[in-house]
Amino acid sequence: MITQRTVERILDTAQIEDIVSDFVTLRKRGANLLGLCPFHTEKTPSFTVSPSKNLFKCFGCGRGGDSVKFLREHEGFSYPEALRYLAAKYQIEIEETQEQRKDDPEEQLKDQLFVLNQYTRDFFAQQLFESEDGRQLGLSYFKERGFREAILKKFDLGFAPIGGTTLTNQAVQDGFRPDILQKAGLSTSQHRDFFRERVMFTIHGLSGKPVAFAGRLLGKTVKGPKYINSPETPIYHKSNVLYGLYFARQSIRKEDNCYLVEGYTDVLSLVQGGIENVVASSGTALTPEQIRLIKRFTSNLTILYDGDAAGINAAMRGLDLVLEQDMNVKVVLLPDGSDPDSYLGELGPEAFQTFLKENSRDFILFKTSQLLQASKDDPVARTEVIKEVVRSIARVPDPIKRGEYTKVCAQVLQVDESMLVAETNRMVSADMAKDRKDKARQELRENREPDQQVTGSPSIPEAPRRLPTQEMDLVRVMITGGDKLIQVGEETTTVANYLLSNLEEEVIQEFNSPLLRAVMEMASAQLRSDAPLTPQFFLQSDREDIRDLAIGFLSPDYQYSDNWEERYQIVLHTQRMPDDNFARDAQLALQRFQLHRLDQMCSVNAQRIKEAYDTGDEPLYLHYLKFQQELQALRNSIADQDLNTVILK
Ligand code: UTP
Ligand code: MN
Repeated sequence: MITQRTVERILDTAQIEDIVSDFVTLRKRGANLLGLCPFHTEKTPSFTVSPSKNLFKCFGCGRGGDSVKFLREHEGFSYPEALRYLAAKYQIEIEETQEQRKDDPEEQLKDQLFVLNQYTRDFFAQQLFESEDGRQLGLSYFKERGFREAILKKFDLGFAPIGGTTLTNQAVQDGFRPDILQKAGLSTSQHRDFFRERVMFTIHGLSGKPVAFAGRLLGKTVKGPKYINSPETPIYHKSNVLYGLYFARQSIRKEDNCYLVEGYTDVLSLVQGGIENVVASSGTALTPEQIRLIKRFTSNLTILYDGDAAGINAAMRGLDLVLEQDMNVKVVLLPDGSDPDSYLGELGPEAFQTFLKENSRDFILFKTSQLLQASKDDPVARTEVIKEVVRSIARVPDPIKRGEYTKVCAQVLQVDESMLVAETNRMVSADMAKDRKDKARQELRENREPDQQVTGSPSIPEAPRRLPTQEMDLVRVMITGGDKLIQVGEETTTVANYLLSNLEEEVIQEFNSPLLRAVMEMASAQLRSDAPLTPQFFLQSDREDIRDLAIGFLSPDYQYSDNWEERYQIVLHTQRMPDDNFARDAQLALQRFQLHRLDQMCSVNAQRIKEAYDTGDEPLYLHYLKFQQELQALRNSIADQDLNTVILK
């Protein structure tokens, strides 16, 4: 793990405008910088970078955050990847804790494999462009298929020589160990080259490093399988990689759609034809990991199927997995006998693009009509079709979308909509019951106590969780202004100290939201150790949800980000520019929180009064009545509190 000290150094050094301007053209506009948002398509710039706050914010799509957030969203980096990128950019040395130090043999092996793969990528490319055989066999093959030199270079294509030991010998001569060559899948145990007399495709990881290779036979010579691929290695897990994603990611984000094709050459053709948001599954069904990879960039997937029986069948299978991940799936069926590469060649890029636009069809509807066609007038087959369609619809997590599907599919299938709704609901609850059972089983296996939802009666889907506004407000003030000095009566103190000295430990323990409680606990611990409570403290937390929360509060325009509003229905209660008035903001937040809490206590107590009255327990009744009066008095005194007792320093 990267040490907290390094994280702080990196975040303190990173200047948001340096980072963003590597990807976005920015112009000066007052104290801020302005550009076209890289996250959505726009004609007038609404993407703002604030050097003084060290944050970015798009007023169009609502995305915002710090340098790390920008890299994560824009480049699809993980948190440590983003930190490493920044450290490299600013030449900051990374300190790591014991857990994953560089001398960990596993990490060391990975490093060695990466270095070897880089070497090999360059070797294959050199063979393709500079060797006699490479030019005559490989380069001419690619050229014949219409691939231009720019695309060959961009995608690191190459040529594996005929000899059978050329790479192995050369690499060993250049200092690579034979056992590492074998572990990388580049040499056989007989010290021969694994890839021979093939054109080579480099498979890149998400950060552009070569993780594996694939080699295609030249032309139609029948000498084994058309493609051979690197085996699984510590740096290559086939199910976690999508061919072309490294080059496609920015375009996928921008177009808010990802095209999925089957073959390596399909990717090359489409990119050369100007369609850059394309990846290949390498001929296999999509895995959940691959779907998650795509979801980092878009929720819209358009699948281009080869126009043959296998292609159509592939369209039917496996896609429920994608629906489950709440992605919108479209399919384009290509004419019989074509694949994207050949059909684009036939139509030319522009007509092909038009073809895609005109022929994308919603997957569930596509599936419905395909199945219907196949079943013709056979009533038994038709029942199966309905079941099959219902199965897909039930996988869609969003109930509103499910409703739309049942409506349209009922029309297509010419059945009663309410029947389809009932069937879908049955399937959804069956799925949920199964999930619950699986979860219970897993928990038993993990030897944990099953939680109540697992064993409880049929579940009603939980309403979207709502963060309590009053708690949220306190936390917002704590994060954005905890270190600000304010005057309370005679005394000068910090906002954090003021808030925490008015909230008892137990009150914080009663916070409804675990996330918000965690923030207050962190703040309290920090204060006890006399450490400063700057916004950076929260921005650098090792908890992602806390960092996100802080970023949301600290965004330049100061609004809860859209995301928060959607997820938790947060409404903004306090004034928009609390920077100007932390004292007032802090007091209002505290006051609202306390009033809300007292109101809750009053209503609980009122219930007790009623119960005591009903059972005729007079002493208890009087006791609660008195308590109620005390609560009311306290409430009034807080409500009346003179806001001027706290003044801005
Ligand atoms: P295709 O046979 O459609 O190949 O297999 P392609 O990509 O269109 O190649 P060209 O255009 O004929 O040269 C689709 C994908 O399935 C995997 C590869 O990833 C290929 O791109 N595949 C295919 C293999 O891994 N091994 C094989 O023998 C064949
Ligand atoms: Mn193909």
